[in-house]
Amino acid sequence: MKILVTGGAGYIGSHTCVELLNANYDAVVLDNLSNSSEKSLIRVKNITGKSLEFYKADLLNKKQIMTVFSDHKIDAVIHFAGLKAVGESVSMPLKYFHNNIIGTLNLLDVMNDFNVKNIVFSSSATVYGDPASLPITENFPLCATNPYGRTKLMIEEILQDIYRSDRNWNIALLRYFNPVGAHKSGEIGEDPFGIPNNLAPYISQVAVGLLPRVSIFGNNYDTPDGTGVRDYIHVVDLALGHLKTLPKLFTNPGLVVYNLGTGFGYSVLEMIKGFEAASGKTIPYKIVDKRPGDIAACWADPSKAETDLGWKADKTLSDMCKDAWNWQKKNPKGYR
Ligand code: NAD
Ligand code: UFG
Repeated sequence: MKILVTGGAGYIGSHTCVELLNANYDAVVLDNLSNSSEKSLIRVKNITGKSLEFYKADLLNKKQIMTVFSDHKIDAVIHFAGLKAVGESVSMPLKYFHNNIIGTLNLLDVMNDFNVKNIVFSSSATVYGDPASLPITENFPLCATNPYGRTKLMIEEILQDIYRSDRNWNIALLRYFNPVGAHKSGEIGEDPFGIPNNLAPYISQVAVGLLPRVSIFGNNYDTPDGTGVRDYIHVVDLALGHLKTLPKLFTNPGLVVYNLGTGFGYSVLEMIKGFEAASGKTIPYKIVDKRPGDIAACWADPSKAETDLGWKADKTLSDMCKDAWNWQKKNPKGYR
């Protein structure tokens, strides 16, 4: 089976490529490297001892996508490629709509032309907005609170419409909670350009001495210690969720939706303590104002994925922190 992985050089994509190759799938990666380095793919090859095909190509360029489909008989697409920085999407909405929506439409058009109608889409827990209760199940109401989230919601709706019009499509919408950690080898991991927006890479960079302290965005939320609570999931568990989704897709299930989370929530302070234990370092922090748009707490009910796919995240917070630290320590400046 040959899988096209868009955005395969990125954080989640590179970890998924490792698991695909380990499971004897053939992988073809399409990535424009706008937020990643080709080195991640060299490391993927080193970890697995297997090769994959890489196209430095842009989803905004339909001809480039067509070349990939002309060169390979693709069985399914895992579609990771997209821009993902929430704050940037607020200041540059057109960039996000253009890249994420037009890029996806181009991909779907080419897939349709080449009669490849199996796709796994990287959606996000952000589509649940500020949930009325917890844990979140897949049938909760959906809403977007920023342009990035709106691109995820719009693409989910586009895929729903495509499925309604043509039942030959098989579509898995995977709603990720908060991916953290790295491959246990420490060879691949999260490598944000510039100052990290997300908590885990920020803490790692403080631990390794690149940044002075963590700013905790508010400590008077209605949570046990007042700091924000999220469902952090090890990126390898998340990658394995895709591996469990593919066989399901090949049973012609139509359109399916799954939460990929652990079902547990941890606070910002618990994450800092976890990283301190993993790194043996003290991680300085200060409490600052809340970040606009942040919600107090968010965690998944992941039971549907367990029942339908036989998938369950099994790595602990300690595994997530240890593996993130191992990657950061071995690669203080990421792939650079
Ligand atoms: P990432 O930025 O590391 O990977 C995305 C990849 O897509 C990058 O390698 C980038 O170069 C590539 N890309 C972007 N636009 C492209 C285009 N037009 N053509 C070709 N390649 C393009 O991000 P990630 O954390 O690995 O996220 C992967 C997917 O999962 C994204 O769609 C993201 O929105 C989604 N997601 C991520 C998180 C998270 O917290 N990391 C949470 C929920 C959902
Ligand atoms: N936080 C801090 N300081 C920081 C960064 C974050 O205190 O420097 C706090 C936030 O307030 C929040 C928690 O840490 O309580 C997690 O924040 P992240 O930015 O790491 O993650 P979010 O839950 O805000 O959002 C992430 C992605 C979204 C995605 C969402 C759900 O950025 O794109 O997870 O998957 F939609």
